[in-house]
Amino acid sequence: MSGSSPTVANGQWRGLIEEYRDLIDLLPDDLEAVTLREGGTPLVHSEWLSSLTGGQVWLKVEGNNPTGSFKDRGMTTAMSLAKYEGAQAVVCASTGNTSASMAAYAAKAGLKPLVLVPEGKIAAGKMAQAVVHGAQIIMVRGNFDHCLTMAKELASNYPVALVNSVNPARLQGQKTAAFEICDFLGDAPDYHLLPVGNAGNISAYWMGYVQYAALGRSSRRPVMRGFQADGAAPLVTGVPFPDPETKATAIRIGNPASWQLAVAAASESGGRFAALSDPQILAAQVELAKHDGVFVEPASAAGIAGLLSELAAGESYAGKTVAITVTGHGLKDTATALESFSDIVDTVVDADVDAAAAAAGLI
Ligand code: F0G
Repeated sequence: MSGSSPTVANGQWRGLIEEYRDLIDLLPDDLEAVTLREGGTPLVHSEWLSSLTGGQVWLKVEGNNPTGSFKDRGMTTAMSLAKYEGAQAVVCASTGNTSASMAAYAAKAGLKPLVLVPEGKIAAGKMAQAVVHGAQIIMVRGNFDHCLTMAKELASNYPVALVNSVNPARLQGQKTAAFEICDFLGDAPDYHLLPVGNAGNISAYWMGYVQYAALGRSSRRPVMRGFQADGAAPLVTGVPFPDPETKATAIRIGNPASWQLAVAAASESGGRFAALSDPQILAAQVELAKHDGVFVEPASAAGIAGLLSELAAGESYAGKTVAITVTGHGLKDTATALESFSDIVDTVVDADVDAAAAAAGLI
């Protein structure tokens, strides 16, 4: 079979479609996966947050996916199906990560990627990914919600396949992160905390946890807690935000597409939504990097900020197992990360070891 990948069986992670094929709906038996071997991301134990809570806190580090965010999970399924169904071109609206992922998977699939993004609100690293993978990028004078409306209409009126998370194949792929957590821990955690923007991910995790419990592969389902930014918190207030604003640009979304599914995930699990200020989110990003060695982008720290703010408010996680998804890699948006360090000036010395030792305070 020319063009298809050779089969290898050397014990390495094969990508989430091959690893979980039987548990993923919507995939025809003869579907060939478009994969960059996404998924299989590390669940890293946080000594810092475990000691703060008196529980066991684990970080699902989704920045370790091929394009640096959890979006690759839904993109392998959505792109595989789009290719299978004969699509020539794919479209998405994005705050940056979906477009980076779509562009990479479209390149792998040989399809033409078209991206709609809010002008001036995409982190440089994400934009670079879409550009380098060959996407056609259209900047929209508007926010993500406007871009999503346009992407849906383009897909209904023109020969382009929509790969935003309103495409059900996306959540099917994304739910595998819940499977991985249960497989690694031996059961579902007591709590699962994560950032929420367009609300697909919390919906997908809940779908995965419900499925695993129903299959008897886990004995319980976690309480789901979703965290938004104060300036883009429709699931907290219950009303859309016409002008969402936050430095955590990945979750700068005022009217999430998976609103109902996310509300169901929170209520069926006994969970809830809460919002954090930008300073809380950015401080959590830096603390996580310093304590645990995990560098995430601003939006990805919302779950960490959420845990810290709940602890400050007297909430207890003592004795509990807590999973927190950190959704994307810190290298995607170094400009915002470095804003927290504006008062630190680099030390410059001559090429002289004594000068370096003196500057470092060693002598
Ligand atoms: N974290 C990151 C890093 C994201 O990129 C996103 C969403 C979220 C969290 C929120 O996940 O939308 O499933 O609730 N980014 C989308 C994008 C909107 O276009 O890349 P969600």
